[in-house]
Amino acid sequence: MQNFSFQNPVKLLFGKGQIANIAGEIPTTARVLMTYGGGSIKANGVYDQVKAALAQHTLMEFGGIEPNPRYETLMKAVELARAEKLDYLLAVGGGSVLDGTKFIAAAIPFVGEPWDILSKAAPITSAVPLASVLTLPATGSEMNTFAVISRNSTHEKLAFGHPLVYPKFSVLDPETTFTLPPRQIANGVVDAFTHTMEQYLTYPADAPLQDRFAESILKTLIEEGPKTLANPTDYTSRANFMWCATMALNGIIGCGVPQDWATHMIGHELTALHEIDHARTLAIVLPSIMHVKRDTKQGKLLQYAERVWDIRTGTDAERIDAAIAATRKFFESMGLPTRLNAYNVGEEVAGIVADRLSSRGEVALGEHKDITAQTVRDILRMSI
Ligand code: NZQ
Ligand code: ZN
Repeated sequence: MQNFSFQNPVKLLFGKGQIANIAGEIPTTARVLMTYGGGSIKANGVYDQVKAALAQHTLMEFGGIEPNPRYETLMKAVELARAEKLDYLLAVGGGSVLDGTKFIAAAIPFVGEPWDILSKAAPITSAVPLASVLTLPATGSEMNTFAVISRNSTHEKLAFGHPLVYPKFSVLDPETTFTLPPRQIANGVVDAFTHTMEQYLTYPADAPLQDRFAESILKTLIEEGPKTLANPTDYTSRANFMWCATMALNGIIGCGVPQDWATHMIGHELTALHEIDHARTLAIVLPSIMHVKRDTKQGKLLQYAERVWDIRTGTDAERIDAAIAATRKFFESMGLPTRLNAYNVGEEVAGIVADRLSSRGEVALGEHKDITAQTVRDILRMSI
């Protein structure tokens, strides 16, 4: 096992009715900015629950944060918070609202151009405290330090992460997710599945506990994903899915093991260029990476085949092929295409994405840093 240091300070309030308890988590003197997206929280009653819970607090609001949150929009919230001296942020929504709010939190006290936090990894030394009420299980943003922000003017989609933007607390009430359209549920299952795979499908690292944590998340998603898609108001199934998504990217399964985030790095470019939903890019890229990197990932691919899919017969190559096919079939059974041609994107994208990653020096990806610009081209050509 590799050395690691791990600290995750996020308090979770999990279960029915937990929104009512947030007032006790936020200082009574705080000047709170509630952030949200395009209005789903108004349609499903979450907005009213938050307003009722914070009736005694000073509360302003900022709506309209888009899926794949835009820098241009977020900077308007930064201006509002600076002008009104707001000192606590409450994100109410999916991963995009949470990520956007993390950026707002870091940008408010930032001296200089806040985009530099993303484009130049400019150091941040303070952030406004934030918390969240999550309404879409998928990203793990509710319990991690990451945020992914897009910029309209340059078609860039870039990430940053910092312990200062850990939420102080996150509410996970499965009932708030009952109104999610099937497309977003399916996206969430595949996003959480891929987060787990990217911390698991590398090379054996003598970390059996982390491996079994990861395998248990994968198997639970395979069991619960179709159930929660078919029965959106089944509380038990939704609760289990929600917990899987948080556990998939809160740092625990990644402790002490090699990681390979190439699927996400390539996927973010596809979203930036073609507005394909985040998880849908992952469903396209992951099976191709499994194929292209089958030699260096052989040990874990065989373990994955056996322990996650119960594939025990055939040669090594046949079992790996069967595991890749099972993964593809699972994504497609959830309604996510696994080929770029479903989005009318052709082979030219392979060179464009490779060039964009190269221009940022991001072409030594993967657990062995051997996913080069040429490998990215191969992966995307295989994904057409
Ligand atoms: O904007 P509203 O009206 O709220 O509607 C949203 C949005 O249209 C809707 N929605 C959310 N909760 C709902 C609901 N509709 C009905 N009922 C509810 N309860 O769902 C749509 C999609 O929301 P979004 O927040 O964009 O989805 P998701 O949670 O999948 O977040 C995706 C973003 O997270 C980033 C992605 O790149 C993408 O930008 N990621 C963040 C990560 C992190 N912070 O660790 C890691 C991930 O890998 C990912 O990159
Ligand atoms: Zn993701």
